[in-house]
Amino acid sequence: MLQEDNAQREGKIYGGKVTPLVLVICLVAATGGLIFGYDVGVTAGSTSSNEFLRKFFPSVYIKMKCEMDDEDGYCRFDSQMLTLFTSSIYMAAMVAPFFASSVTTAYGRKASMILGGLVFFVGSFLGSAAMNIEMLIIGRLLLGVGVGFGNQSVPVYLSEMAPTMLRGALNIFFQMAITIGILVSSLVHYSTANLEGDLGWRFPLGFAAILGLIMALGSLLLPDTPNSLLTKGQNGKAKELLQKIRGTEEVDEEFQDLFKASEAAKKVENPWKNITQRRHRPQLVLCILIPFFQQLTGINVVMFYAPVLFKTLGFGDRAALMSAVLTGIVNVLATLVAILLVDKLGRRFLFFQGAIQMIICQTTVAVMIGLRYGSTGEGFFTTTEANMALFLICAYVAAFAWSWGPLGWLVPSEICPLEIRSVGQAINVSLNMTLTFAINQSFLSMLCYMKFGLFFFFVLFQIMMTIFIYFFVPETRGVPIEDMKRVWKAHWFWQDFVPDY
Ligand code: BGC
Repeated sequence: MLQEDNAQREGKIYGGKVTPLVLVICLVAATGGLIFGYDVGVTAGSTSSNEFLRKFFPSVYIKMKCEMDDEDGYCRFDSQMLTLFTSSIYMAAMVAPFFASSVTTAYGRKASMILGGLVFFVGSFLGSAAMNIEMLIIGRLLLGVGVGFGNQSVPVYLSEMAPTMLRGALNIFFQMAITIGILVSSLVHYSTANLEGDLGWRFPLGFAAILGLIMALGSLLLPDTPNSLLTKGQNGKAKELLQKIRGTEEVDEEFQDLFKASEAAKKVENPWKNITQRRHRPQLVLCILIPFFQQLTGINVVMFYAPVLFKTLGFGDRAALMSAVLTGIVNVLATLVAILLVDKLGRRFLFFQGAIQMIICQTTVAVMIGLRYGSTGEGFFTTTEANMALFLICAYVAAFAWSWGPLGWLVPSEICPLEIRSVGQAINVSLNMTLTFAINQSFLSMLCYMKFGLFFFFVLFQIMMTIFIYFFVPETRGVPIEDMKRVWKAHWFWQDFVPDY
């Protein structure tokens, strides 16, 4: 590990500073995260709306209303159709990144961002106007395409625009936007829950259109990244932009590195084949395992089902929605911590700290539920116990928000050389969405069968991912994005895969 730290210190330090321009650019680009976040939140909110359930999922509604005296408490909300609805966005978002990666490579990061915002905008309209479940699901598939394009292009855009010393923080603006999106949507739900009739769920779905528009219009105003401009052969423009965003004329060294990277990228005929070559094994493995583990923290169980979960634990309707707002606030605030620390303490520190905190919190909640609800799911928490569970869930969300949440988007977007960056990120997004889909689709059934043991299942993965980070994920803080090779060369395991340079 010492060898890696030395590699990082001996790395290049480019000239330039953090300019207001680059901050504004990154803030605008990060709004792409809003659409993803809002949608995660809408899923949680609309599935707890009685009107919504009555219209589209009557059987779940009836089951819920009857209180099911004789039914296992863990199985109350188990409905394949309901989970199919919540998951359908992720089915589209699994496939979309592959198309997005071609658009991003050929036409630039900006093109994918605009397209993503527009498709999302159309999808929100369809969803909020839905007259039947088909319309609802088609709208949601379009939202998925928008999210797939956004998540594929925005993190890469941010990592390329940011100066090395602040790359982590600026990239985490994206996760910040995701968490704000989740919070806004739970607030919208909370305040519209008492609206008469359909408006209570139509309004929140329609509100998403505004976010799609912000993303599309915002991206329209942005310049493309210097790396993208070079790929398109616009060398003069690329250098001019680099000078502007770095606030100095002295950008020759960085520009040369970008230029070399873009020349190498131009020679690559098929980036998909390229990423499978042995010399790109570290990037490929990380782009696969990081999203896999990010989702197996179990975070989306809380994000999607917090209101349902809190209801199961005995909170009333409004209290359950309010708890979701609370976890949303914690999520946003804890992401700030990541922004402040990621370029100081590094990625590995946050990975470790976050995972250990998640393990402690989730294990304790699982034991508490196990003791009180046993294997039947029938039981209750005293007010103190319910508050303690809420506290532990918030501490778990905080831990995720300053570790695996942002790092799951940052690390894959910064470790790949230009020639495979787009496809690496497409793999990351697609797998992230596949796992989100799988967990979301199976969570309610798994809860029904594994009962409180389900929470131990996630803890097991949290232990595995910590071991994985310890051995296989080197520190990338402070290393220029086109100079990452030195990190692999200094790594005890990956060095044999990477050729000398
Ligand atoms: C994850 C999402 C999750 C969100 C929570 C993101 O990094 O990819 O699946 O819902 O964080 O804040």
